[in-house]
Parts: sequence; structure tokens; C-alpha cells
Amino acid sequence: MTTRTRDGSAGDVDYGAIGSGYSGYRRPDPRIAQAIAEALHGARTVLNVGAGTGSYESAARSVTAVEPSESMRARRPARLARAVDAVAEDLPFADGEFDAAMALFSVHQWSDAAAGLREMRRVTRGPVVVLTCDPKLVRDFWLYEYAPEVLDTEARRYPAIEDMAAALGGTGTITSVPIPLDCTDGFNEAYYGRPEMLLDPAARQACSAWSFVDDGARERFDKALRGDLASGAWDERFGGLRTQPAYEGALVIVRATP
Ligand SMILES: C[S@@+](CC[C@H](N)C(=O)[O-])C[C@H]1O[C@@H](n2cnc3c(N)ncnc32)[C@H](O)[C@@H]1O
Repeated sequence: MTTRTRDGSAGDVDYGAIGSGYSGYRRPDPRIAQAIAEALHGARTVLNVGAGTGSYESAARSVTAVEPSESMRARRPARLARAVDAVAEDLPFADGEFDAAMALFSVHQWSDAAAGLREMRRVTRGPVVVLTCDPKLVRDFWLYEYAPEVLDTEARRYPAIEDMAAALGGTGTITSVPIPLDCTDGFNEAYYGRPEMLLDPAARQACSAWSFVDDGARERFDKALRGDLASGAWDERFGGLRTQPAYEGALVIVRATP
């Protein structure tokens, strides 16, 4: 059963508590939007599960959004459809109702990812598209040296890609999504070449994994990264990333057709 907070948040994060700066730091990135649009393959009716404030909904023509958190629903721009208050694990739609479905940066928060993905498959005739991170790859990022607790949290939360593929069934593909250097959607890897951004507490708050670690871990991270940036140690090891146009890290699109 899915437990919900007063805000209605259904996953492992209470957006009533941490959601206020989300849309400012997590602006949809046009290059990632293009990768999502390609995976949707021209579908007309698209279900967006865990829709939040509506990022990437322009990638589809007609969107039905599902979002359990009241504060996220309230922050959706007026030009977008109102989101339905429901959870992935129990979608209030008929079998095969949509041409396609998508879940973007969301599946790792669900209380039962396999059940949610099976529900997405049930209500969708065509592709189910999931933008997520491969838990086997999340620790390969330089941030692991400064905030291991944060990426250990990420590795624990993201469902294994094989388990997702099994829940979706049918025919699947897994595609790495290159992250552009000036990515506007501020998840941790988006700052691969702009480490100073992660010294901003509000930027960190927009990545939910930081809300799982204690103040001590945040302070250790801040001191270590600040020190290495000041001494030049970070640049000596990772400085090439400052001009690398794109980064292939843990971000993937899992796509499955029946
Ligand atoms: C990191 S946000 C991503 C929002 C949006 N898809 C985006 O790309 O900006 C994750 C969203 O998943 C929603 N969520 C968490 N658990 C859920 C569940 N069980 N079913 C549906 N949505 C859920 C959260 O409320 C939150 O809005």
C-alpha cells in the first residue's frame, strides 16, 4: 500500500517540505526533451506519471498528468493540464487508454516501482518511456569522492534496470542520455562541469537524495569541495569536464513496447 503525507506526497520524499525551489533549479532541458520526444515516437495521447510541475510535457501533444503531491500540482503553470491526484501503483485509467506513457525522474521515489510500471504498461497501447538512472553507474561520478552518502542513497533508491525491464515486459531498449554541459535541469550529474553549483544549498535541495543525508555529511561535502576548488585540486583531476560538451553518466531512457 502507498502511504501519503499531508501534502499527498506518495514516494520517499515529502515535496510539501522540500518542493519550494524545485522548478527554479529543475528547468526542463531542451536536449533531454528531444531524447524523450524521440522515444515517444509521435504518440498523440501521453500519460505522464509523477508529473511534478510539468517538465518535459512539451515533448508530447496531448498529456494527462498524474501527480500525488498537492504542492507540486499547485506549481504547475496554468497553460498545462491540471494533474490528476493519483499514484503510479494504482492508476485510475482503463486498459490501453493512452498511446504512450512516460515517467521522468520519478520511478525511484515510488513505494513499489514494479507495480507502478505494470500499471503504466496496462494503461498504454504503445511505448512506456522511463527517464531514470542506472544504479550500477551512479557511483562513477566525481561527486562520490565528496558526498558518498548521497550517491549511496541514489544507488539504493533507483530500481535495477533489469527489474524495470521485467516489470514492463515486451521488447525493450536502454539508451544512455548525454547530459549537456549547460544542462538546465539541475540533477546532480547536470553539474558535472560546474562543481561550484553544488555548493548552493538550494541547488542541492532540488535533488531529493540530499534530503536523505544529515547535516554532518552536507558540511563535510561543502568543506572538502570548497577546499579542493580553492587549492586547484578539483581542477587538476576533473578540470577537463569544465569544457567537455556532454557527459554520459548514469542517466538512461528505458523504453518498452508491448
Ligand atoms: C523528482 S520529481 C520529477 C517531476 C517531473 N517528472 C520532472 O521531471 O521534473 C518526482 C515526482 O514523482 C512524484 N511521485 C513520487 N511518488 C510517486 C508515486 N508513487 N506515484 C506517482 N508519482 C510519484 C513526486 O511527487 C514528484 O513530483
